[in-house]
Amino acid sequence: MGPPPRPELHEKLATILAICQKMNSQRDLGALLDLIAREATSLLDCDRASIFLLDRERNELWSKVALGSDEILRFDARLGIAGSAALTGQTVNSSDAYRDRRFYTAIDDRTGYRTRTVLAVAVRNQKGEIIGAFEALNKRTGAFHARDEEALAALASHAAIAIETAQLIGELRRNQDELTQQNAHLWREVESRYATHGILGAGAAIQQVVRLVERIRDSAVNVLITGESGTGKELAAKAIHYTSPRARQPFVALNCAALPETLVESELFGIERGVATGVEPRIGQFQKADGGTLFLDEIGDLSLAAQAKILRVLQERVLERVGGRTAIPVDVRVVAATNKDLQAEIAKGSFREDLYYRIKVIHIHMPPLREIRDEIPLLANHFLREYCREAGRGAMEISSEVMRRLAAAEWPGNVRQLRNEVIRLAACARRGVIAIDDLWDGIPAPVCGQPPIQAAPAKSLKKAVEDMERRMIVDALQQTRNNQQQASRRLGLSRQGLINKMKRYAIAGAGQ
Ligand SMILES: Nc1ncnc2c1ncn2[C@@H]1O[C@H](COP(=O)(O)OP(=O)(O)OP(=O)(O)O)[C@@H](O)[C@H]1O
Ligand SMILES: [Mg+2]
Repeated sequence: MGPPPRPELHEKLATILAICQKMNSQRDLGALLDLIAREATSLLDCDRASIFLLDRERNELWSKVALGSDEILRFDARLGIAGSAALTGQTVNSSDAYRDRRFYTAIDDRTGYRTRTVLAVAVRNQKGEIIGAFEALNKRTGAFHARDEEALAALASHAAIAIETAQLIGELRRNQDELTQQNAHLWREVESRYATHGILGAGAAIQQVVRLVERIRDSAVNVLITGESGTGKELAAKAIHYTSPRARQPFVALNCAALPETLVESELFGIERGVATGVEPRIGQFQKADGGTLFLDEIGDLSLAAQAKILRVLQERVLERVGGRTAIPVDVRVVAATNKDLQAEIAKGSFREDLYYRIKVIHIHMPPLREIRDEIPLLANHFLREYCREAGRGAMEISSEVMRRLAAAEWPGNVRQLRNEVIRLAACARRGVIAIDDLWDGIPAPVCGQPPIQAAPAKSLKKAVEDMERRMIVDALQQTRNNQQQASRRLGLSRQGLINKMKRYAIAGAGQ
C-alpha cells in the first residue's frame, strides 16, 4: 500500500468526482459547457475558464464567448494558447500571456478582457482523439502550478465524455425532430388521400361506405345506418347531408332514445297555440329540418306509437302539429341510425316492418373497429394530429411499439374509444413521442396471443386457473417492462400480492 493521499489532493479528488456527477447529468451541450467552465473556475481558483471545441471540417476552435451567453467565438485552430494545446496535445502553462508568442491577443481585443496567466490542456475523447482544449485564465494569486495542471487535465478527460454524450444526444434529438416532422407530413398526405367528408379509412370496408355516400349524393332517398356504438354513424349521416344538394339547408339531429313518450309527438311535429294553458306554440324537428336532413339517431328505441306517426309523415309528406288541424307539407330526407338489430326487433314485434323498409332504402353498415384493424394507425395519427393542433402543441408521434399495441387491442367502444385513448396518451406523454412507458392500463387488452380457453386440453379446474393466473402475471410484467407497481395495478393486486404469486409460480424477479 502506498502512502495516504495528501489531504488537499484528497479534497480535490472528491471535488472532481462531485463535478463529474453534475456533468454526467447535464445533457444540453450549451448548459454543460457553462457548467464545466464554472466548476473549473472555482476548482482552480482562477477568474475564467473555457472549453474550446475543435471543428475538424473547418479546422477551427469554437467556444461560447461568456458564461450563459449563446454568442460563439470562432478562430483558426492554429492560433493561440488553446490552439497550441489542441494541436500538440501538450499542456501549456504561461505565467505571462503577453510575453508568450503563442498567445493570440485578438480575443482579448475583441472581448476587452486582460489575460495575465493561462493554463491550457488538450481535451481528448475515449479513443484518445483531441476534440478541443480546456483553458483557465488568471489564477487569483500568482501563477498556475503543477497541481492545477493535474486537476485541469483530470477534469478535461471527464468533460470529454460528458461533451460527447451531449453532442450525440443533441444530434439524436435533431434527427428525431426531423423524422417527427417528416412523419407528420407523410400522414397528412396519406390522410388527404383517404379522408372523404371526414370519414377516414383506406381499406375496402370504409371505402365502400365512402363510395355509397358519393353515389347517393344527388338523390333524397332515406338511409339507414347501422353499427355498434362509436363506429361513426353520426359522422356518416353528416357526410350524407353535407355532400348532398341539401347541404345548405339544416341538418337536424334528434336522439330518439332521449325522448320521453309523452313528448315524442310535440317534439317531432310541433305544437299549436292554445292546446293547453301555459303551453307555448313550437315547431317540431321535422319542420326545422324542412328542405334539409333529419337525423333520427337510435331509431330502434322509438315506441310503436311514435313509429306509426313517423311512418305517416314519410308516406304522405305532410304533418299535423299537436292540436292543429291543417296538414303542413314538409320536404325532409330522413337518415336514421341504430345499434340495434332491427330485424330482430321486428321479429319481437317491437319495430314496424313497414317503417323499416321506408327508411332502409339505402343501408350503410359501419364496421366495428376490430374488423378494420388496418385503419388503426391512420385513425390514431389523425386523432393525434387533431389533438396537437387543438392543444397548440408541436407535432407528436406514436412509437411503433405503442402503435402495435393499439392495433392489437380490443376496442369495445370502437373509433370513439380509440380517439379518447389517443388524446389521453398524448396529454400525458412526457416527450414528443408516445412511448411504451407512457401507456397506462387504459388500452383494452390485446386480443391476440392467448388461445381460447376451450382449446385447452382437459385438466383440472385448479390447474387451468393457475395456468391462466400465471399467464396473466407474465403478460402484465412484460407489458410494464417488469414494473411491479404498474403490473400489480393492472392485475388488481397489491404489490406484495403480486410478489407472493410470482414466488408461487417461480416467475423471475420476485426477490426485487
Ligand atoms: N372512419 C372514421 N374516420 C374518422 N373519424 C371517425 C371515423 N369513425 C368514427 N370517427 C370518430 O369517432 C367518434 C365517434 O363517431 P360517431 O359519433 O359518429 O359514432 P356513432 O356510431 O354515432 O356512435 P354512437 O352509437 O355511440 O352514437 C367521432 O369523434 C368521429 O368523428
Ligand atoms: Mg351517434
